[in-house]
Amino acid sequence: MKRWFVYFLFGTAGAAAAFLLYFWMGALSPLNGSPNPNQSEQSMPLGKAIYQAKCATCHGASGKGDGKAAPLLNPAPRDFTSGMYKIRTTESGSIPTDDDLARSITYGLYGSAMPDWGPFLHGDSLKAIIAYIKSFSPRFEKEKPRVVDISSPVPSSASSVANGKRVYAKLQCASCHGTDGKGTDATATDLIDDWGNEITAANLTEPWTFKGRSTARDIYLRFRTGMNGTPMPSYVGSASEKEMWNLANYVVSLARKPVWAMNAEELKAFYSAADAEAKKNPVERGKYLVESSCEGCHSGYSADGKVVPEFKLAGGLVFDIYPFGKFTSFNLTSDKETGLGNWTDAEIKRAITQGIQRDGSRLLPFPMPWTSIAQMPDDDVNAIIAYLRTVPPIRNEVPLPEKPNIFSYMWGKFEMLILKKQYPGYIYPLKDFSKMEHDAKGGTDGGQDSEESQNTSSGSLSTPLVVHNENPFRNDVKEVQP
Ligand code: HEC
Ligand code: HEC
Ligand code: HEC
Repeated sequence: MKRWFVYFLFGTAGAAAAFLLYFWMGALSPLNGSPNPNQSEQSMPLGKAIYQAKCATCHGASGKGDGKAAPLLNPAPRDFTSGMYKIRTTESGSIPTDDDLARSITYGLYGSAMPDWGPFLHGDSLKAIIAYIKSFSPRFEKEKPRVVDISSPVPSSASSVANGKRVYAKLQCASCHGTDGKGTDATATDLIDDWGNEITAANLTEPWTFKGRSTARDIYLRFRTGMNGTPMPSYVGSASEKEMWNLANYVVSLARKPVWAMNAEELKAFYSAADAEAKKNPVERGKYLVESSCEGCHSGYSADGKVVPEFKLAGGLVFDIYPFGKFTSFNLTSDKETGLGNWTDAEIKRAITQGIQRDGSRLLPFPMPWTSIAQMPDDDVNAIIAYLRTVPPIRNEVPLPEKPNIFSYMWGKFEMLILKKQYPGYIYPLKDFSKMEHDAKGGTDGGQDSEESQNTSSGSLSTPLVVHNENPFRNDVKEVQP
């Protein structure tokens, strides 16, 4: 499973390693507006050549959104075969116009990995790439874009904004975006897009993160047309045109000052307010930290590389790193027998900040990145523990690390340091967790039969990810036959 490489990057070196990997995969190499000059590609039609050089790494050679980098990305790259687009000037469900596509390609989609291609693609190249991505979906042959009749805008004013605030309440934008636009008291928080991925409603106080940009017209269009493929609905018919423009003016008025535009005093005030917020609710803060920095390694995965919700934080990802051994991520839920249920706060803290296990033995500095967790502010470490305490028990017994005997270890070190041999490491789930019976009270079978279930329960798991040189351990990583 190629996809497994991704979980290696969840740790501390995440962003940097992802970037290296992206380079390695060659997506950025031909960055100068001309198509890849490689041999046969020269004779290809322009659109296809540009696509293969610049877009295929993410969007996949056949446009299905399954390029090499795709598993790294959330939101996932668009599957062009669906003909479904978020940023449009067309009615809900309709295909976009060429101008809509040109706009997304030129400016990119803020807040996602979709880059802005404006500096590299214009004129004929832009036309060619648009024609090429349209060719992935038969919808563009059969349908015509149904363009929205944009009414004349209502200029912003205090009364328009006040009126827009009422429209915001009437249309219940708050159910997803919160009463204040930044999610406070939102009732719909577990949102999933049409491709089955988790998605968060935009923070309306940070307009620089809007994918379709943030003028009143852009915002009017987003809720007038909806964002196809996402829970963000179309409100056509639910309010008058005038009300919709007032609402757009209200959303514009919610913008806070971006950090980069703040002076020293404003910055200080901003961060101490954010700090106070975090202290007020450590569990909330801890949840955020755990989801962003522990969950990727400490969860049960399905064979196709998705966290299985019933095994979130229940451990079970194997890191096979020659000559150091084979380590399975631990069950972090509050299960008393197989998880952290019987650990004291102090024991958890000692393990994740000093690498000292419950029985006093030491953890290697990898794969469990306790050395970098040790750099976190104390409040954050406490918040992580506070949140872990609230995670309901999931029974999932993971095997102890398998460490090599001293001779194989010495030989491995010798190969590594003297012979300069390079071996990749392997990462794979202990078993296909989507096929496991789940029972929070116990009864899920443990991880004892790892070898067996790896080979029997899912064929694809027997070809684990091979982590190439871009892994954080570089020279230290060696291969061991899985
Ligand atoms: C680094 C990865 C990456 C590369 C390279 C990339 N894209 Fe994307 N693209 C994305 C992601 C991720 C999304 C989905 C963002 C979202 O749904 O919020 C996306 C979405 C899109 C969309 C959909 C816009 C909409 O309204 O829904 C278009 C069109 C698009 N890309 C065109 C291209 C073209 C053309 C290229 C090559 C010139 C390209 N992309 C290269 C990551 C990439
Ligand atoms: C059912 C949940 C839901 C409701 C209700 C909802 N939104 Fe959204 N909204 C979303 C989600 C999810 C996104 C993020 C889509 C994405 O990033 O692809 C979003 C994104 C947005 C954006 C950012 C657009 C961009 O270009 O990225 C704006 C502006 C917005 N919503 C305004 C509104 C307004 C105004 C209302 C009420 C009329 C509303 N939303 C109602 C879920 C919702
Ligand atoms: C890069 C993957 C990775 C990340 C990120 C990660 N862990 Fe781990 N963690 C592991 C592995 C693998 C083990 C098992 C190590 C072993 O058995 O030697 C482990 C073990 C543990 C243990 C048990 C230690 C023991 O004494 O056996 C705890 C507790 C733990 N991790 C908590 C966390 C927390 C909290 C976070 C997030 C702040 C986190 N981990 C992030 C991979 C990771």
